[in-house]
Amino acid sequence: MAAVAVLISVFVLILGHCAAKYEPNWDSIDSRPLPSWFDQAKFGIFIHWGIFSVPSFGSEWFWNYWHKNMTAYVDFMKKNYPPGFTYQDFGPLFTAEFFDPKEWTDIFSASGAKYIVLTTKHHEGFTLWGSKNSWNWNAVDVGPKRDLVDELSIALRANSDLRLGLYHSLFEWYNPLFLMDQDNLFTTNYFPSRKTLPDLVDLVNKYKPEVLWSDGDGNAPDRYWNSTGFLAWLYNESPVRDTVVTNDRWGYGSICRHGGYYTCSDRYQPGHLLKHKWENCMTIDKLSWGFRRNARLQDYLGITELVSTLVETVSCGGNLLMNIGPTHEGRISPIFEERLRQMGQWLKVNGEGIYNSTPWRAQNDSVTANIWYTWKPQDKALFAFLLQWPDSGAVVLADPVPTEGLTQVALLGYGALKWEPVKPGGLKVHVPPLSLNQMPCLWAWTLKITGAV
Ligand SMILES: *[C@@H]1O[C@H](CO)[C@@H](O)[C@H](O)[C@H]1NC(C)=O
Ligand SMILES: *[C@@H]1O[C@H](CO)[C@@H](O)[C@H](O)[C@H]1NC(C)=O
Ligand SMILES: *[C@@H]1O[C@H](CO)[C@@H](O)[C@H](O)[C@H]1NC(C)=O
Repeated sequence: MAAVAVLISVFVLILGHCAAKYEPNWDSIDSRPLPSWFDQAKFGIFIHWGIFSVPSFGSEWFWNYWHKNMTAYVDFMKKNYPPGFTYQDFGPLFTAEFFDPKEWTDIFSASGAKYIVLTTKHHEGFTLWGSKNSWNWNAVDVGPKRDLVDELSIALRANSDLRLGLYHSLFEWYNPLFLMDQDNLFTTNYFPSRKTLPDLVDLVNKYKPEVLWSDGDGNAPDRYWNSTGFLAWLYNESPVRDTVVTNDRWGYGSICRHGGYYTCSDRYQPGHLLKHKWENCMTIDKLSWGFRRNARLQDYLGITELVSTLVETVSCGGNLLMNIGPTHEGRISPIFEERLRQMGQWLKVNGEGIYNSTPWRAQNDSVTANIWYTWKPQDKALFAFLLQWPDSGAVVLADPVPTEGLTQVALLGYGALKWEPVKPGGLKVHVPPLSLNQMPCLWAWTLKITGAV
């Protein structure tokens, strides 16, 4: 009897597994529900790090812009490096001598983020891990002589509950195999079959990322990249098949249409609710994703703008992926560290209305400017984020429908506030004048409203 029961349950398991199989086509791949942790997380940190962090001038597109003879880059090289110096010569200068993955993890944890996304390989092709397919153009052979992906993933898992995400560029600007396929109008696939796909499988098997952030389709269609074939493997068989999420950059035309969550464009901010889960990837340095030694203070977004961006993004159903660029020595510069820690301070007080929230029926208030809403179904609580402090001592929320004797309003980090109904609808919340010491936070304030619809 017991043997029969075991046999039956094995059968059920196998059947269940087969039923869940995804096929290598977009209809099937797109039908996979997004693992719920991602929508609940709301906030992640993007990290652009690579050989471009050595010149740390212009942007992470340094090699491409220099190669195209853009004046600023040609002049920069002429002025600072000997004749004949090549981009590859930057490799040994990528030293990472101050890279302390535990310290990075501590800063990331303090930011309140729930996941990170590290560039394992940008369009320059240099891999931050010891890829067997990137001989002498990876961080184990050249530069730090360390597997940076391995070290960061180990520190992250040992010291935090942050999830690991890996960015990976499908194409490489100057890889001869890619250029050959390009010359053949992508009717051959030397590059994806020998480089991209083996590397992707290697990354997933070795580091078990829970976000796979694909980028750089090189204007080649997803058929060329075999993206649906890879994603079917990722969702059916890989070690992270149950929890991994991916984005939408899997070949020319797939962005904002196929894959996992949508990114649509860099710094995407629709300002209204989307039906499909999406992510706003943006960078604190307004001009670059990679570190720039010549960035000026005014080039960095301030914490007020960053908090506003988070609030607007989450109200409209998105996640925020906020980028920093570490230095070639492996440092997170104090300006980035400060922004991350400030975000964490704000989330400590106001995170109740961010994490695990869902969009409400209205995203921003229909009458009062600079107010964004989220909803917490499990608590039947509405959150109104005020991006401006109401100097007049009161603020009108036009969209919630209150009930006298039932509706309660509190300022997060402070306590209950008085309110009264207003015509034609909504409520007027009285906000006392608070001293700096009484202020629960400084960059946006959250009203928690219960007993209203
Ligand atoms: C850039 O300038 C060099 C030197 O003049 C030249 O050999 C090369 O073809 C130029 N590259 C492009 C993309 O125009
Ligand atoms: C596409 O990927 C799948 C899954 O990894 C693999 O089985 C298949 O052989 C690949 N097809 C091509 C043409 O590379
Ligand atoms: C907020 O809501 C109003 C009215 O619904 C709308 O006109 C406005 O564009 C919205 N967005 C922002 C960013 O204020």
